[in-house]
Amino acid sequence: MVGDLRSFYKDTFVLRPSKMSSLIVRMIMLVIATVCGVYICSVCLKQINPQTKSSIEVIERLGISCEANHLDYPYLHFPQPETFSRAECAGNPVRFFVIITMQRSGSGWFETLLNSHMNVTSNGEIFSNKERRDNISSIIRTLDKVYNLDWFNSASKNECSAAVGFKWMLNQGLMDYPEEIVEYFNRRGVSAVFLFRRNLLRRYISVLANSFDRYAKILNGTHKSHVHSPEEAETLSKYKPLINSTSLLSALKEAEFTMAQALANFNSTRHITLYYEDLIKNHTKLVDVQDFLGIPHMNLTSRQVKIHKGHLREHIKNWDDVNKTLNGTAYAKFLQLDY
Ligand SMILES: *[C@@H]1O[C@H](CO)[C@@H](O)[C@H](O)[C@H]1NC(C)=O
Ligand SMILES: *[C@@H]1O[C@H](CO)[C@@H](O)[C@H](O)[C@H]1NC(C)=O
Ligand SMILES: *[C@@H]1O[C@H](CO)[C@@H](O)[C@H](O)[C@H]1NC(C)=O
Ligand SMILES: *[C@@H]1O[C@H](CO)[C@@H](O)[C@H](O)[C@H]1NC(C)=O
Ligand SMILES: *[C@@H]1O[C@H](CO)[C@@H](O)[C@H](O)[C@H]1NC(C)=O
Ligand SMILES: *[C@@H]1O[C@H](CO)[C@@H](O)[C@H](O)[C@H]1NC(C)=O
Ligand SMILES: *[C@@H]1O[C@H](CO)[C@@H](O)[C@H](O)[C@H]1NC(C)=O
Ligand SMILES: *[C@@H]1O[C@H](CO)[C@@H](O)[C@H](O)[C@H]1NC(C)=O
Ligand SMILES: *[C@@H]1O[C@H](CO)[C@@H](O)[C@H](O)[C@H]1NC(C)=O
Repeated sequence: MVGDLRSFYKDTFVLRPSKMSSLIVRMIMLVIATVCGVYICSVCLKQINPQTKSSIEVIERLGISCEANHLDYPYLHFPQPETFSRAECAGNPVRFFVIITMQRSGSGWFETLLNSHMNVTSNGEIFSNKERRDNISSIIRTLDKVYNLDWFNSASKNECSAAVGFKWMLNQGLMDYPEEIVEYFNRRGVSAVFLFRRNLLRRYISVLANSFDRYAKILNGTHKSHVHSPEEAETLSKYKPLINSTSLLSALKEAEFTMAQALANFNSTRHITLYYEDLIKNHTKLVDVQDFLGIPHMNLTSRQVKIHKGHLREHIKNWDDVNKTLNGTAYAKFLQLDY
């Protein structure tokens, strides 16, 4: 728009350098400035929460935040939950996020880290319940409830949440309605956090071990997907899956393809892409995440303990077989010790 205006101004000036035309140009500039001002004001006013006591205070605060963050505008929200009042935090903006991920990619751990932040509410795997993802209208109803802060779990920060979201697995309806969901994310200003695992062989072992434990219930007869002590981790990691080397390559390819497809489908949303391995090796990545979510920096902590540590050789029953199957393929790198 600025570019157009400038060339318009230049053309007018060059063609008819009279006082008359410069007056017209000035008037046009004035009208445009007024329209812009009114637009910015209306954007700010839309964000005012009518429940707040002092509107002057809010207008002042919004004046500043609109000025400083107007580029962020679609991503700042002032939800009005039906189930409680945001009380003293009603004037604080809330960001909406979704963690897009796959099973056994570190998202349970990642979510406990996020929820250790005093202003973050991540509601877990809400679409593991099939009824909530039966069709696009039940998906949207569920999303509306989450982003209106009317969804609760033990990690809910209620009135003082500055970022609210949940964890969405690719196989839980997300990939069934990509267009509708992208439209929703962009319309409601939802930011996506992709969390994937680089080493898909390690992920595959974790999938096999976890599905074995679902039946075997190694830890005193209870199935555990995540553990909080090194002893429990060691007990669980004693189980070494036998990997079907005939279907291994196609299993890895399929996981890789699904990840690429998710990135492509949701590419037009505001997003950040994270890898589990990078988060483990480099805690500064968590600062990037907090910046992306627009929340104050805090030290994030989790009590979860990693289950499969050390060389993969120790975690696969038919290691030689697997080593040979992947030798010379694009996936040979997964055989190396990566952390
Ligand atoms: C969508 O699914 C919900 C929950 O299963 C169901 O109650 C509703 O009738 C369905 N709506 C449509 C349009 O199919
Ligand atoms: C974070 O939470 C604290 C206490 O619950 C609150 O005082 C603070 O205003 C919140 N910060 C943001 C950015 O919402
Ligand atoms: C299993 O139960 C025993 C005794 O009840 C307890 O000492 C032990 O810590 C439990 N182990 C795990 C892995 O929960
Ligand atoms: C291994 O995978 C192949 C191909 O999918 C399948 O035909 C075969 O039955 C599998 N073997 C076992 C032991 O599951
Ligand atoms: C979306 O995908 C295209 C092609 O895959 C890529 O060139 C582009 O940079 C991506 N856009 C974003 C915002 O990531
Ligand atoms: C750790 O992550 C930060 C933020 O993304 C990055 O700037 C830095 O280079 C990373 N450090 C290493 C050793 O990779
Ligand atoms: C986070 O923890 C590190 C070391 O554990 C400490 O040096 C740093 O001051 C802490 N930062 C905050 C913001 O608490
Ligand atoms: C895996 O196989 C390669 C040869 O393909 C061999 O050099 C390497 O030692 C094997 N790795 C392990 C850990 O057995
Ligand atoms: C690994 O692959 C290379 C060629 O890519 C081959 O020369 C070598 O014999 C293979 N090693 C094993 C143990 O299969």
